Amino acid sequence: EVIVVENADAAGELIAASIRALIEARPDAVLGLATGSTPLPIYRSLARSFADRPLDVSQVRGFSLDEYVGLAAGHPESYRSVITREVVTPLGLTPGNIHVPSGDPAGLPAAGADYERAIVRAGGVDLQILGIGRTGHLGFNEPGSSFESLTRVKTLTPQTRADNARFFASADEVPVHCITQGLGTIRRARHLVLLAVGEGKAAAIAAAVEGPVTASQPGSAIQLHPHVTVVVDEAAASMLA
Ligand code: F6R
Repeated sequence: EVIVVENADAAGELIAASIRALIEARPDAVLGLATGSTPLPIYRSLARSFADRPLDVSQVRGFSLDEYVGLAAGHPESYRSVITREVVTPLGLTPGNIHVPSGDPAGLPAAGADYERAIVRAGGVDLQILGIGRTGHLGFNEPGSSFESLTRVKTLTPQTRADNARFFASADEVPVHCITQGLGTIRRARHLVLLAVGEGKAAAIAAAVEGPVTASQPGSAIQLHPHVTVVVDEAAASMLA
């Protein structure tokens, strides 16, 4: 299902409403969280919703998609910091229930398998929020990623590092490596909600929704999933047939 909305705020409200409904039905729902700019309106709309009509979210659990490798613990742009600042604190989630893969180089060999086990132990992800990169990446699964891949270390493309340089003082500071849920991990979530806004995402959205299913367009993995909602503004929808 593709839903075209007026702007990012409208998208945020729509998706926040479905997340709220999920938590009302299942207080210990497992959310798949994304970072980057795109999902911020979802989190802000949810925070407003919880302020207007309080909801017990103490049992909600969450698994983030990815993390940079090698940023110092507590770096403001580590995805652990971003998830704490943008999601856990404003939504009043229980910090111990919210997981982010560890990008600590010392623990990397075991970190992917540990993360997979934790997701399985939680019963899997009910609703996975996704953004998409201009390279077509979901999570940080850059082109060439296997559709069966699980959480592991990947190398960011020069395009993705340039796109994410806006969060850092200089382009050189953007880490080269990341740890990311695989496309296989993402495909196991029961409902995928992919949000994209702006014309910079139009080609990636067209490839994901209508292009051939190919590892050179990781976003096309959504076509293998039985329950996907794609929410886009007019600009991001502009290359759809
Ligand atoms: C973030 C993530 C990435 C982003 C993508 C789009 O956790 O996994 O796939 O969703 O890079 O980023 P923005 O939203 O900043 O354009």
